[in-house]
Amino acid sequence: MCGIVGYIGDDQAAPILLDGLEKLEYRGYDSAGIAVFDGKQIEIKKAKGRLKVLEELTHDGANMPGVVGIGHTRWATHGEPSDINAHPQYNKDKTIAVVHNGIIENYQKIKDKLTAKGYKFISETDTESVAQLLDYYYEGNPLEAIIKVMQRIEGSYSLGILFADHPDKVYAARKDSPLVAGIADDGSYIASDVTAILKHTRDVYYIDNQEIACLTKEGITFFNMDGEPVQKESKHIDWDANAAEKGGYEHFMLKEMYEQPKTVRDTMSPRIRKGHVVIDDLKMSDDDIRNIGRLHIVACGSAYHTGVTAKYVYEEMARIPTDVDVASEFRYRDPILDKNDLVLIISQSGETADTLAALRLAKEKGIRTLAIVNVVGSSIAREADEVMYTWAGPEIAVATTKAYSAQLICHYLLAIRFARARGEITDEQEQAYVADLEKLPDQIDMLLNNKKKIQKFANRYIGAKDIFFIGRGIDYAISMEGSLKLKEISYIHSEAYPAGELKHGTISLIEDGTLVAAIATQKKLYPKTVSNIVEVKTRGAFVLAVTNEGDTDMEEHADYVIYIPQTNQYFTNSLAIIPLQLFAYYVAVGKGCDVDKPRNLAKSVTVE
Ligand code: G6P
Repeated sequence: MCGIVGYIGDDQAAPILLDGLEKLEYRGYDSAGIAVFDGKQIEIKKAKGRLKVLEELTHDGANMPGVVGIGHTRWATHGEPSDINAHPQYNKDKTIAVVHNGIIENYQKIKDKLTAKGYKFISETDTESVAQLLDYYYEGNPLEAIIKVMQRIEGSYSLGILFADHPDKVYAARKDSPLVAGIADDGSYIASDVTAILKHTRDVYYIDNQEIACLTKEGITFFNMDGEPVQKESKHIDWDANAAEKGGYEHFMLKEMYEQPKTVRDTMSPRIRKGHVVIDDLKMSDDDIRNIGRLHIVACGSAYHTGVTAKYVYEEMARIPTDVDVASEFRYRDPILDKNDLVLIISQSGETADTLAALRLAKEKGIRTLAIVNVVGSSIAREADEVMYTWAGPEIAVATTKAYSAQLICHYLLAIRFARARGEITDEQEQAYVADLEKLPDQIDMLLNNKKKIQKFANRYIGAKDIFFIGRGIDYAISMEGSLKLKEISYIHSEAYPAGELKHGTISLIEDGTLVAAIATQKKLYPKTVSNIVEVKTRGAFVLAVTNEGDTDMEEHADYVIYIPQTNQYFTNSLAIIPLQLFAYYVAVGKGCDVDKPRNLAKSVTVE
């Protein structure tokens, strides 16, 4: 949520900052700005709208001389998107400039105090309180002022800071919002996401909570809150820099959908040996697994949806009682957690504020935590007792596809591992599950190759007002994700319903021609879902069904049928979601929507 870049070195800073911001634009994109020390003073240029407005304003950075600067792309929290509210924010005489991700919760208190002392605030942002407070504490030593500010401010933040008095330095600090630093041949960098600096360096430092970094063109020094230098080790990033580029696809979302066979294979293969699931990253012993009393899955958005699917799998296959919670609810409902429980945290970014808070809550209560995370070294990955990585590589499109698919695989593997340790499945059953899992990448590939047919169908629905998704059991979980994909990128109102529940009110919204997507992959629930299809058809709905190959009688009930290849009942989500992703994508493309950057959204939500 919001993106930060900073640079100090030999080259002109502004073009480097803009290039880095381009990589981060998916994190927030309602306004952008950069501050550069031009040799005499700090010059600041900001613009409401996409980054390209700022690029035009600065002639791609060419009209901003200087070799040190900070940049920001914003997702508004406090104050509407506008030139004034865009970052960098600064003090009265523009000698201190600040870019910020996160939220300063006590900004109003700080603002009131400083206003009483004669300070004038010009923006509605919480960030301006940091710039003004730095001004208040600054007596010539930036580090001292930053520490004092960090002692006063509450909330979450990553900060990039310039002081006109110290034009040979960029400062950075953070608490609960990600920030990395890296040294390259041409200078030093900071960024809120490693993708922004990957083309300059692959060796990065993860700035820790309540740490400060001071960048010069020669190197970086880290400090703790006592102002003492801290030694840190860099981490090497293996990602292919091209993974963060579009590589010929029209959108990142399409590219990432096409990466799903690979993502699924990469996440699964290292954890399968000779037909058995071996999860080396899992420290829990068989005894620990046998002792799990209850599983609490906690996540947000699509990650939560993988949890809804997984609940059925953990309960049915491994017989572990499982709760699934949206993180923002879990953290405030005083959940009942027992010492034998396992809290399973799911997050692509590893930075989602509510999910991170839920993890911390579980840890405070002394409950074992396991996190399924995509971004290596992210806060959740670092703080959880155990981490199982999804090897999906960088995901740029705001609407998740490949990370979602990879999370499902981790759930299946864990469920098999748990079921085996608890004696719920036999060796033969495990091998059969594994054999089905290993077929998934090719099956996903096959479904992706069917895109033309789905594109044609989707084009008929670009004018739709409401679209409903129904299903039972795992098919309901698939419906939730199919519905979210569609609404988040196409802005068509959509709801997912347990197929049997629709008649308790919502069915009144079905009119002649309303599209209902019915998912029916679960054999034992198939006849029940068919009855619900008949109910909506009777009321005029047009029914698109997604079902298993072989269930051709569906053609008698539904208007349009998409078949998925045969797999185990637990794993159908991995296949049925593919046509639904493609459908959402092509409806949004047909409507001319900005598929990779839907309005009002952000990829990584680091505010609660
Ligand atoms: C945002 C994204 C969603 C994502 C959710 C959780 O809302 O737009 O796609 O599912 O955050 O993110 P996480 O990084 O924790 O998986």
